[in-house]
Amino acid sequence: MSRIFSGVQPTGNLHLGNYLGAIRNWVRLQDQFECIFCMVDLHAITVWQDPKELTRNTREVAAGMIAAGVDAEKHIVFNQSMVPAHAQLAWIFNCVARIGWLNRMTQFKEKAGKHKENASVGLYAYPNLMSADILTYKATHVPVGEDQKQHLELARDTAQKFNSDYGVEFFPIPEPLILGAAARVMSLRDGTRKMSKSDESDYSRINMTDDADTIALKVRKAKTDLHPMPAALGELDERPEASNLLGIYAALSDTDKEAVIQRFAGQQFSAFKQELIDLAVATLGPINAEMKRLMADPGHIDAVLKQGAERADAIARPILAEIYDIVGFLKP
Ligand code: TYM
Repeated sequence: MSRIFSGVQPTGNLHLGNYLGAIRNWVRLQDQFECIFCMVDLHAITVWQDPKELTRNTREVAAGMIAAGVDAEKHIVFNQSMVPAHAQLAWIFNCVARIGWLNRMTQFKEKAGKHKENASVGLYAYPNLMSADILTYKATHVPVGEDQKQHLELARDTAQKFNSDYGVEFFPIPEPLILGAAARVMSLRDGTRKMSKSDESDYSRINMTDDADTIALKVRKAKTDLHPMPAALGELDERPEASNLLGIYAALSDTDKEAVIQRFAGQQFSAFKQELIDLAVATLGPINAEMKRLMADPGHIDAVLKQGAERADAIARPILAEIYDIVGFLKP
């Protein structure tokens, strides 16, 4: 059986990278897989979150997913802290995964920065919780943006080590699904840095809540270089900003970079940017409107998440009971 699990941190500013790298693919995979989508609030608090903001952001991210087309009736949409199995299995994985594995995680290095002694223990152990998210449902496929690839490799290693330590064939080895021309959307201000919720400059990203005028302004201001539009794929290696905008255009128009190059080769960026604005507004405008409509009724969002958590719990609980049995914990 094939089952998808994926998650997003409710830390505000859902952006075009989250949409093109993850959420849009989730929507497209819904017909082929049984899906579980999660607002990972336990992950969010690995760095400080204002409690009121966290609550608001959890609802907003849920609204964003649903507005983008995730079907919360057919599939499961919920927030992580409501299902205890995530934290319980994460502890077991803290005892399976090796410190050496976690030391290699580039995201921890980036997020902790120079003062890693001051980072939370949770930030360091973050990937083990992510492995638990996936494996507490025995998910087989995990659609994510490219930045999560290393965490997925760790989840695969952890599943394998658990299976071999305990001499079982219990966990499936989950496959990452990294899809589309924009699996790694970069900042609009610096083509060498990832588009990120936490970038100080709002001009670095297009938020899913941005209106048409804001999107237009951000795309017009997006950094480019002094040359006209590239004429060959090979040029993109040296031109990160052009490569990024081309990738976004390709993803939004469901084509590849090569096709976009053929269309715009040698032209000025201004004409290309106007078309990019039109595409982004046409895609995000209806999502934005639906998000606003959903956010006006937080009670409804809470009810969706609660019902999702009950369904998630019903899947996770018996799997965790089997895991407890394998590990040798007494039955409660
Ligand atoms: P998060 O919240 O940072 O991002 C959510 C999803 O969006 C993708 N993404 C991007 N894709 C392309 N370009 C970008 N600039 C970009 N920025 C973000 C991410 O790859 C992700 O798919 N650790 C995860 C959340 C998580 C998870 C899980 C994911 C927790 N448990 C289990 C999958 C399975 C994270 O912080 O994603």
